[in-house]
Amino acid sequence: MRIAVVGSGYVGLTAAACLASLGHEVRCVDVVPERVAAIELGQSPFFEPGLAELLSSALAGKRLFATTDLVDAVVRSEITIIAVGTPQGLAGIDLSFVEAATGSIGRALRDVSGYHVVVSKSTVVPGTADTVMRPILERESGRNVGEFGLCVNPEFLREGHAVADFLNPDRLVIGEWDQRSGDTVARLYETFACPVIRTTLANAEMIKYASNALLATLISFSNEIAVICEATRDTDVQTVLHGVHLDQRLSPVVAGERVKPGILSYLWAGCGFGGSCLPKDVNALRAYARERIVDVPLLDAVMTVNAQRPRSLVDLAEKALGSLRGATITVLGLAFKPETSDLRNSPALQVIQAFQERGAIIRAYDPIVTAEPDLAFPGLSSERHEQLLGLSGGVTLCATKEAALRDSGAAVLVTACPEFLSWNWEELCSIMRQPLVIDGRGALSDVAWPVDVRYLEIGRAPNPAFLSRALAG
Ligand code: UGA
Repeated sequence: MRIAVVGSGYVGLTAAACLASLGHEVRCVDVVPERVAAIELGQSPFFEPGLAELLSSALAGKRLFATTDLVDAVVRSEITIIAVGTPQGLAGIDLSFVEAATGSIGRALRDVSGYHVVVSKSTVVPGTADTVMRPILERESGRNVGEFGLCVNPEFLREGHAVADFLNPDRLVIGEWDQRSGDTVARLYETFACPVIRTTLANAEMIKYASNALLATLISFSNEIAVICEATRDTDVQTVLHGVHLDQRLSPVVAGERVKPGILSYLWAGCGFGGSCLPKDVNALRAYARERIVDVPLLDAVMTVNAQRPRSLVDLAEKALGSLRGATITVLGLAFKPETSDLRNSPALQVIQAFQERGAIIRAYDPIVTAEPDLAFPGLSSERHEQLLGLSGGVTLCATKEAALRDSGAAVLVTACPEFLSWNWEELCSIMRQPLVIDGRGALSDVAWPVDVRYLEIGRAPNPAFLSRALAG
């Protein structure tokens, strides 16, 4: 099929490259000419495993084109996918990019002669396709919906796994104005074998929010158990949650083997969730409910618990060091989760800010977030540069773990990057001013710590007996 994708961020560009890899002819539209130029060269403007390879092969096969000309892309296509950002506004979700893109697509529809379906992949609150997008499309195109199609087709892509998630989806959700719209969108994915939910526009919008709200709730639930463990002698949250995971309703035994569903990875305690989706989507759903005079105490609590986590990690360090004033602290891991360079809403930024407020001097190390990661794409990533500038206020971003840890007063792990597990901690602790490791993710609990190293982790009661590996083992 011929498809236009408006917006070349994580969702838009991944969808475009993957749809092209399925054999469709795809035109990516973006308002930033430098971004379009980079895509035309097969460069991904952000770090996403496998995406650059897909882009190059689709470009070479002439199945993918990038352009700033939205009208041309829409006119040449049967389906236009909206994949622009929906940032958090002051009073809920900010739909201004969706409205602008929808208006432009509506105007372009005037030049389209055949049947055309407009599809929203942007994450929008329930009712947006029907009450915001449909009126704009009808007004700008001069046609009634039905003459053109309208669908909501949310994505469930995780950063760092976006390509694999797109190509091997758990489910396809197609919210449809009418059957013809839905049938057209279903054809995009006819090679996929997963379950397909054909439903209303609003259900499709709500499924996306409910999915992300569940993930956030599991994390905050785990963190609340951690808080109780921290106040309870002889408990540690990792052992407690491991015990919870072994309930066969959570990890069934199939053919004699224990299956560990991916959802369990959200039932671990840490220093909070972040990223561009979970916090924004839970807040958007809360604001949406408030507008409808509906109380959502659970979702409110999910965000309250999450907001407290970074600070509680800093409290742990302060207790261990006595005072943080003038202390050099090494923050390990900056991105909101491992295997990405994305700093958006990263708990690490809040941890750093709380340390700085208490007078600490911050060094940071992250295997993927480096000081000048985007020079290959000048002008492309102003948002990313802003993130880094925001971070650089008083923070020394170190290129090596040794530079980050030499003479440091404490190592504080905020993001569970896999490489931290393979480090020679005995050697690294020996170059620190004092060997204190504070683990905000429980990621290093299996390290055989030398006796002179003080290892503290979140969710563990401050019981000296439990600080000893011998006893814990
Ligand atoms: C999330 C959802 O997982 C996707 O299904 C959804 O499509 C996407 O948002 C979106 O709305 O576009 P992502 O933002 O990439 O994807 O983040 P996750 O991998 O879910 O991580 C979110 C937070 O949960 C992170 O702060 C991370 O530290 C935490 N997390 C993640 C865990 O606690 N455990 C994990 O196994 C993974």
